[in-house]
Amino acid sequence: MLRVSKVTLSYGAEPVLEGASLKVEKGQFTSLVGPSGSGKSSLLRVIMGLQRPEAGIIDLSAGREEVGILFQDDALLPWRTARENVALGLRARGTPKTKAGQEATSWLWRMGLAGFEERYPRELSGGQRKRVALAQVLALRPSLLLMDEPFASLDAIVRHRITQDLLRWVEHEKLTVLLVTHDLEEALVLSDTVYLLSQGPRASVRECYHVPIPRPRDLVQARAHPAFASLLGRLWQDLSDEVGEQHAATVQPLRREA
Ligand SMILES: Nc1ncnc2c1ncn2[C@@H]1O[C@H](COP(=O)(O)OP(=O)(O)OP(=O)(O)O)[C@@H](O)[C@H]1O
Ligand SMILES: [Mg+2]
Repeated sequence: MLRVSKVTLSYGAEPVLEGASLKVEKGQFTSLVGPSGSGKSSLLRVIMGLQRPEAGIIDLSAGREEVGILFQDDALLPWRTARENVALGLRARGTPKTKAGQEATSWLWRMGLAGFEERYPRELSGGQRKRVALAQVLALRPSLLLMDEPFASLDAIVRHRITQDLLRWVEHEKLTVLLVTHDLEEALVLSDTVYLLSQGPRASVRECYHVPIPRPRDLVQARAHPAFASLLGRLWQDLSDEVGEQHAATVQPLRREA
């Protein structure tokens, strides 16, 4: 579905990525984790075509219009109701008004928002807004779903529930997903494959982990699977090595003035 080959990116004189490569197979859930500031969001922007790399190839088998995007900040229009927000994308695709409204309603129901269709974003909780945003993107039946820390702003329980629902949808619809997250546990329970980006500057993919937990998964059971603990241990170790190396290289001991 997506192949990223040897992407190199700088912002002006500041190098960010160098030779970063990964691939996302059709019907698979892939995550990208790595130290803060290593270039995860930047790589996602390159994939979306919003950022031009100096070198490298993005090979996307779907058209850009078939790519769904979900970010930490939801992009709901405040002056439109939940239903109208979900219908907007469908309307933009040429779905007639009545049908777009009906489909929007049914997606909101699937996201657990029956009864909230006519509410404006300000009348919804953060979790509910996130569900509307998820309904909005899923309603377009994306061939590839790109997400950057989509649930980072939610509290633990709400986050757990919405992640469980996302998992169910992903498995039911066999969605192809690339998720950027700094949450290693979230990456492991959701993914078939996890990529670890090295510490920048000049970050590249350091490691690729296959997650052999069977599907359909349940978040709690997936965490209890023996592969989960061993992979989490490896990921933590590899991530700490990355951050540790950089830390040692940049942090100077404080000099005591006489
Ligand atoms: N538009 C920009 N202009 C200049 N520098 C940028 C820009 N966007 C990001 N950077 C820099 O590029 C580096 C990578 O940033 P990026 O946001 O891709 O990291 P990240 O891995 O997503 O981090 P986090 O986990 O904190 O979200 C950082 O050093 C950041 O300061
Ligand atoms: Mg980021």
